[in-house]
Amino acid sequence: MIDQIKKHREDFDSRVAQAADAEAVNRLRIEFLGKKGHLAQAMQSLRTVPAAEKPAAGKLVNELKQHVERLLGEKSQTFEVKSGKPRESFDTSLPGRREALGSLHPITQTLEEIEAIFHGLGFCVEEGPEIESDYYNFEALNIPKDHPARDMQDTFYIGEETVLRTHTSPVQIHVMERQEPPLRIIAPGRVYRCDSDVSHTPMFHQIEGLMVDEGVSFSHLKSVMNIFVHQVFGKNTSVRFRPSFFPFTCPSAEVDIQCVMCSGKGCRVCSQTGWLEILGAGMVDPAVFEAVGYDSDKWTGFAFGMGIERIAMLKYGINDIRLFFENDLRFLRQF
Ligand code: PHE
Repeated sequence: MIDQIKKHREDFDSRVAQAADAEAVNRLRIEFLGKKGHLAQAMQSLRTVPAAEKPAAGKLVNELKQHVERLLGEKSQTFEVKSGKPRESFDTSLPGRREALGSLHPITQTLEEIEAIFHGLGFCVEEGPEIESDYYNFEALNIPKDHPARDMQDTFYIGEETVLRTHTSPVQIHVMERQEPPLRIIAPGRVYRCDSDVSHTPMFHQIEGLMVDEGVSFSHLKSVMNIFVHQVFGKNTSVRFRPSFFPFTCPSAEVDIQCVMCSGKGCRVCSQTGWLEILGAGMVDPAVFEAVGYDSDKWTGFAFGMGIERIAMLKYGINDIRLFFENDLRFLRQF
């Protein structure tokens, strides 16, 4: 028995040394370690070995088994490496995992584009608080308590005299209180209205514009609006002014552009009119100048206010304002 095991070992050693490929190793594995292999048979014959020889023979069988397993393992590893399929490998030439790059939100992009246009016309950026007193949001803008114009805006009241600003127009008051004319400012920021559907969200962004100087007229307003529209929507986009009403401007107008979807032919987006409203504007009402202590005989000015989401929706053909606030990367990645 002992001799037999020694012979198996010698036989195995010489054959494993000669094994030239993974298949040869596999054949050896079956021959030695298989169910009916030499080692299984040796285990069986152990039962018939005389008791005195048993411990030594058993030890030899175990040693052979470990020896065979170890050598077969080593041998097959060399083949795996050669065949290019290592069991565990690390390819140092693979690129690392990249940091995901963020990008500017479409509202920020639109805002920056609008700001750049007005910068070019000499306007500076000003900001004001989002929590406003009734005075700045309404009163100083010629909207007294009980004025029906308060119904135009669904105000969030957070106190008897405190509101979330419903428009960026109160920034006009803050700026005029601390600066003397001439001035040319734009005021971007968040505004709040209790309203929600495909074209309204309770929070949205506006940009306000104000120019005050001697001799500022409605034609200056028209010219600035034309430049703005042509830069955002293209040189061939027609602009029209429609008479309107705001308590803080007189005369007031709503500015429409030729429908960007149908080029004015009439479609669902423009309700078959061929025109889209983009902003409100007008000549600063003398009552507003009086509220901030400007001499309304000397100074005149124009103001305008627009929703940035609205501009972005028309520019990019987005039909639901809520998409801007859902933070769905599939949406955001398109900008
Ligand atoms: N504040 C007005 C609004 O939110 C827009 C506007 C601003 C109109 C300035 C005229 C002048 O609807």
